[in-house]
Amino acid sequence: MGLKNRREGGPEQQAAGPDIGHWRQRLLEEVNLDDLATLDMAQRRARLEKVVGHILTREGPVLSTRERAQLVRRIVDEALGLGVLEPLLADPSVTEIMVNGPNSVYIERLGRLTRIDMGFANEAQLYQTIDRIVAQVNRRVDESSPMVDARLPTGERVNVIVPPLSLIGPVLTIRRFPRAFRMDELVQMGALDEHTAVLLGAFVRARLNIVIAGGTGTGKTTFLNALSGFVPSSERIVTIEDSAELQLQQDHVIRLESRPPNIEGEGAITIRDLVRNALRMRPDRVIVGEVRGAETLDMLQAMNTGHDGSMVTVHANSAEDTIYRIETLASMSEVKIPYDAIRDQINNAVNAVVFLDRAVDGSRRVGEVAVVSSGRRESIELTPVVKFEMEPVGLDRVVRGRYVHRSLPPELVTKLVFAGEAVPAAFGGTSQPPPPAPPRPAGNGRAPGGPPPGGTP
Ligand SMILES: Nc1ncnc2c1ncn2[C@@H]1O[C@H](COP(=O)(O)OP(=O)(O)OP(=O)(O)O)[C@@H](O)[C@H]1O
Ligand SMILES: [Mg+2]
Repeated sequence: MGLKNRREGGPEQQAAGPDIGHWRQRLLEEVNLDDLATLDMAQRRARLEKVVGHILTREGPVLSTRERAQLVRRIVDEALGLGVLEPLLADPSVTEIMVNGPNSVYIERLGRLTRIDMGFANEAQLYQTIDRIVAQVNRRVDESSPMVDARLPTGERVNVIVPPLSLIGPVLTIRRFPRAFRMDELVQMGALDEHTAVLLGAFVRARLNIVIAGGTGTGKTTFLNALSGFVPSSERIVTIEDSAELQLQQDHVIRLESRPPNIEGEGAITIRDLVRNALRMRPDRVIVGEVRGAETLDMLQAMNTGHDGSMVTVHANSAEDTIYRIETLASMSEVKIPYDAIRDQINNAVNAVVFLDRAVDGSRRVGEVAVVSSGRRESIELTPVVKFEMEPVGLDRVVRGRYVHRSLPPELVTKLVFAGEAVPAAFGGTSQPPPPAPPRPAGNGRAPGGPPPGGTP
């Protein structure tokens, strides 16, 4: 029995307008479900639209042609799929859909939140939609398991939380499967400048360990995906994620996805289990979608034991905060390691932090790149080498600014040069020590919305 049935006796708020539930019910009475099962989706929709048309002609209100077409569509959407969510899911410019109870639906478009003028007829209908969504991944939502986080077969990430945990009714959040941007596209969009992209490419090929940090939804996964494009295709890459969002372009990629516990609370396979397993798979690189717990220590140890060139994302509020965050997460392991030792591990393991930021106008960009410049057994020191300097926001509320660059610390220059990478001039590359590496083309794109980035050693 679905949650909707158990809930149907509860308080319901009837939305104004046509009673979709009634027409949907009438449709189900009239249509032959066995016949319907033999049709494909398009034929099914056509058949249902025809039947609804007949029912409305006989029993329905008088409507204009447009209103009638809209009503038919809504009834069929309801019967077939996800009701009011269907047109939103069909719109590629919508990146996130947030349903806060039946009468409040928000979407994110171009980084901005807007409330839309649509809702569910009542709470039961919302529960029914939620049931349908989570049933696709063999999960269920009810009072005994009131929270579900899942990825749909179509790639969308879905989170559901219902009463008694949610105090405003069922809440559904759908994150559109993030589009895979290449690094040059991110440069075009102003998410970073060309000099920084060239530098990060060198970092990846030189097998530095890179942490991508930022708040929720700042574009960490998107950036990690773009960054992974610099990994040479000759390498064996293992990716580990909670919900597989990365879309690596290389041939030799092994994708691992963690598994939540089953209804009895058993059988979970964590990111941590997968990190440990990945190390036995002869990876050239391990890429972890996000660390948020004890697996952080395993990741640090992996980075410190020859699995360099790793990349990972973490939630943090600044580049500096990233180090503290990693420290805290690593200490969540049951292996009790003194803080000093953890700090030492971070010092040796992490080479660079890319911090991403979402500005007031919804734009997402690299806010800072900092490199770890402290040596073994020294306290951790982060040196910013790229910073986005924002101008005061004008009346148009559009964020503008420019990227400033600083010279790389000498040890890092040596590391890059020994890996055969040229140090871009913006980062003090002219004074690089021998042996000289063959120069790489720097490209000519640059971030819109700001003056040409200046190398300011
Ligand atoms: N530079 C960018 N410009 C515009 N949109 C972007 C950019 N980077 C990411 N996005 C979009 O922002 C949304 C969130 O991106 P993403 O999933 O990469 O964020 P995240 O930081 O990994 O989120 P979470 O914290 O939930 O894991 C996606 O829809 C993505 O397509
Ligand atoms: Mg992410």
